[in-house]
Amino acid sequence: MFAPSEDQQALIDAARAAAEAILGPTVREDDEAERFRRDAFRRLGEAGLCGIPTAEAWGGLGLGYLEYAMVLEEVAAVSAAYGVALAVSGLPQVILARYGTDAQRERWIPGLAAGELLGGFALSESGSGSDAASLKTTARRVGDEWVLNGSKFWITHAGVGDVFIVMARTGGPGARGISAFIVPADAPGVSFPKREEKMGMRASPTGEVLLEDARIPADHLVGKEGEGFRIAMSALDSGRITIGAISVGLARAAWEYASRYACEREQFGRPIIRFQGVGFMLADMAMRVEAARLLVHKAAWLRDEGRPYTHVAAMAKCTATDTAMAVTTDAVQVLGGNGYIREYPVERYMRDAKVMQIVEGTNQVQRLVIARHLERTFGPR
Ligand code: CAA
Repeated sequence: MFAPSEDQQALIDAARAAAEAILGPTVREDDEAERFRRDAFRRLGEAGLCGIPTAEAWGGLGLGYLEYAMVLEEVAAVSAAYGVALAVSGLPQVILARYGTDAQRERWIPGLAAGELLGGFALSESGSGSDAASLKTTARRVGDEWVLNGSKFWITHAGVGDVFIVMARTGGPGARGISAFIVPADAPGVSFPKREEKMGMRASPTGEVLLEDARIPADHLVGKEGEGFRIAMSALDSGRITIGAISVGLARAAWEYASRYACEREQFGRPIIRFQGVGFMLADMAMRVEAARLLVHKAAWLRDEGRPYTHVAAMAKCTATDTAMAVTTDAVQVLGGNGYIREYPVERYMRDAKVMQIVEGTNQVQRLVIARHLERTFGPR
C-alpha cells in the first residue's frame, strides 16, 4: 500500500500519459469556454479508464478501488473536471453492478465502462441537499411505466449525459419512501433547462434535470421499492473515495507546480524556496498531500477487502478535499502575482478545489457521518 506494485505503476504511468495526451492540450481553453468534450471522454474510455473497478465481463478492468484511486489522481492532476467525469459516470456502474438486474447491467454497464455512454447520479434538489432523505421528486406506477415528477439540482452531466440514476419518492416521508430509477436522458418528459455557471470545475457540466410526467418502463426500477436511499448512500460511500482521490491529484499538481516555481524564481539573489516562509509552506503542502493520499488509499483498501469503510471514506473525502483547498490556496500564494493570473494553472486548481469540499456530501456532512460512527462505537449500548 505504501508503494505501487509493478502493475499498479504501469497503470499509473498509462493513466498519466493518456490524461496528458487527451486532456492536457486543451485544459485551459476547456475551463475558460466551460466546454466538456465527449470525444475526449470517449478516448479516456478507449484507454480503459472509464470502468477501472467494473468487472471484466461487463467491459471494465476488474480492478480495485485502490487502482481506481491511483488512476483518478493522475487524471485529476491534469484535469480535475475529467476526474469528476470518470467518477460520476462510475456511479451508475457501481449501483447497477450491485443492485441491478442482469438485463439492466447488460443494457447499461458495458457502454458506460467503454466511455461510449456518459452517466450521472441525481439525488439533490433545490430544497434537499444535505438532508437528502427529504427529497420531493415523486414516482408513480401507471400500468407498465413509472411516471416521475420533480426537479433535480446541481447534477453533474445534466444536458450531456445519456443516463442518470434518479432517486424519487414512491412511498411515505423519509428515507424508506425513496426508490432508485434508471432514467435515460431521452425518455419522454425529461429535460435539462438550466446549465449552471460555476466558479470552478468549469469543464464539468452541472445543471438541472427536470422531470415532467417523465415516463420510464417499469423495469427501470433499481433494487426494490423503498431501497433507493440505501442505494444512494452506499454509492456515495464509494463516490467519496473517488472525490478524495481527485482532490489528492489536484493538491499534488498545485504543490509540484509551486515547488518547481519556487526553485526557479529568484528574489533577493536566491531561489525563493530558500526563504523559510516559502520553504516551510511547501514542506507543509508536501506533508498534507502525502497524508491525504494515505487516507484515501486506506479507504479504498478497506472497500476492496470487503470491510466496513463508510466512516473512513468520509474521513478520506473530508481530509483530501480540505487538503486540496489549503494546498491550492498556498500554491497561489507561492506564485504571488503570477498565482493570480490565468496564464498559470494554480488559480484554476484553487477554483476547482473549492467544490470538492461541497460535492458528494459537504465536509460538514462527512463530519456528521464520522461523529455518528464514534457514537455507535463509544456510546452506551
Ligand atoms: N450505506 C447504506 N445505508 C445507509 C448508509 C450507508 N452509508 N447511511 C445511511 N443508510 C441507511 C440507514 O441505515 C437508514 O436505513 P433504515 O431506514 O433501514 O434504518 C437510512 O439509510 C437512513 O439513514 P439516516 O437516518 O442516517 O439518514 P439521514 O436522513 O439522517 O441522513 C446523511 C444521513 C449522512 C446526512 C445523508 O443524508 C447524506 O449523506 N447527506 C448528504 C447527501 C449527499 O452526499 N449528496 C451528494 C449528492 S451527489 C453529488 O454531490 C454530485 C454528483 O453529481 C454525483
